[in-house]
Amino acid sequence: KQALTVPRLKTMKNQGKPIAMVTAYDHPSAMLSEEAGVDLILVGDSLGNVVLGYETTVPVTLEDMIYHTRSVVRGAPGTMIVTDMPFATYRLGPEATLRNAARLMQEGGAHAVKLEGGAELAAEIRVLTSAGIPVLGHLGLTPQSVHQIGGYKVQGKSSEEAEKLLQDARALEQAGAFGIVLELVPEELAAAVTRSIGIPTIGIGAGRGCDGQVLVYHDLIRYGSGIRDKKMVKSYANVGDTIREAIAQYVDEVKTKAFPEEKHAFTLQQAADPAQGG
Ligand code: KIV
Ligand code: NA
Repeated sequence: KQALTVPRLKTMKNQGKPIAMVTAYDHPSAMLSEEAGVDLILVGDSLGNVVLGYETTVPVTLEDMIYHTRSVVRGAPGTMIVTDMPFATYRLGPEATLRNAARLMQEGGAHAVKLEGGAELAAEIRVLTSAGIPVLGHLGLTPQSVHQIGGYKVQGKSSEEAEKLLQDARALEQAGAFGIVLELVPEELAAAVTRSIGIPTIGIGAGRGCDGQVLVYHDLIRYGSGIRDKKMVKSYANVGDTIREAIAQYVDEVKTKAFPEEKHAFTLQQAADPAQGG
């Protein structure tokens, strides 16, 4: 399978072919996502919530994103990988933004970066795209601003907010972004944005009118202890229960001496045989 490219994404929008994106944070999640046939992988800074155990994405560092991107790239060598620029790493001007994005690509191996925000980032996006770094925008609920917003709530409800979001989407397109993630916005607004711009929209909690969808890996398979029910999420498996039950059974079998059995042990003779004893 041919890895998706930035030009091909626009073609998918124009042909009405939905784009399927998922987040991944390490080698197994990336490998399984590639094997499952996703179009794009996002190394999201949701890393902070679902892998590192933080309350928000704010504490995630550039070093965290580089480290995790490297393992994702090794796990999904045939897939386009987008990495989130973490909190404030693209807010100190175009030069610092380029330096940080370059590290995600050179040290991490990302093919593109994502940043949260609208028209105020036009200069940064121009500098990145003219340096050959594809940029994915992110509008609506922008989790890095949660302390400002005051919670994870649907955005763009008033007509003023909706108009601003539409203007921001146009500004991102004009600055050179190749697509825009729309998070937690009313379905009607996401559909209107999708119709108003030439680059694909990728929705999460943004309804049926977007050009693609993205879900967080741990939500999609219900993997983890803090995975709460969210209206916008569909969980296609419950691996958290599977893992907990497997480990509980292992603990029980160790305590009751049901494991290991004879077949798991090495006799002296087997241990001397390179084929069996290593
Ligand atoms: O970090 C993340 O997982 C994201 C997606 C929710 C779009 O930004
Ligand atoms: Na993110």
